[in-house]
Amino acid sequence: MQEVKLTTTLTVYDNLNELVGSDASLMHLAIKVRNTAYAPYSNYKVGAAILLENGEIITGTNQENAAYPSGLCAERVAIFYAGSQYPGVPIKKIAITAAASNGSSNEPVSSCGACRQSIAEYEQKQKTPIEMLFMGETGKVIKMNSLADLLPLAFGADDL
Ligand code: THU
Repeated sequence: MQEVKLTTTLTVYDNLNELVGSDASLMHLAIKVRNTAYAPYSNYKVGAAILLENGEIITGTNQENAAYPSGLCAERVAIFYAGSQYPGVPIKKIAITAAASNGSSNEPVSSCGACRQSIAEYEQKQKTPIEMLFMGETGKVIKMNSLADLLPLAFGADDL
């Protein structure tokens, strides 16, 4: 028997203004599109912006449904669009921002488990890391260098 300790690394920026280059432009874009979320049930609006290896940028927002489980998170709206429109083009990074109507989202909000699993599929397939950037409505930004850092021991195609 042995105990194994898993560690993860992340970078915390005090605010959006500390981001540079494509990290900054992607997060600004995620903020811009956030308002197109269709979130009449949760009033929780999420924007995602994806940068592909070929320079293309894809955005997505959460789309809810009266039959609640039929809705989809912003990250998956964006990544599935990227996968369908640019099959085989590696994904470099994803910026995500969330705004709650009660104003309680000023801490970085990270992706739900289902989105982590979906993004992990693309990361495993392309064999290069997908960088993840998270923000609330304002405030600190968290950056992780790989989706794998968010989902240790991930289930994937190799397990089948
Ligand atoms: N949501 C996202 O878009 N991304 C996440 O990673 C977490 C949750 C959405 C789903 C739903 O429309 C709303 O936020 C509240 O859960």
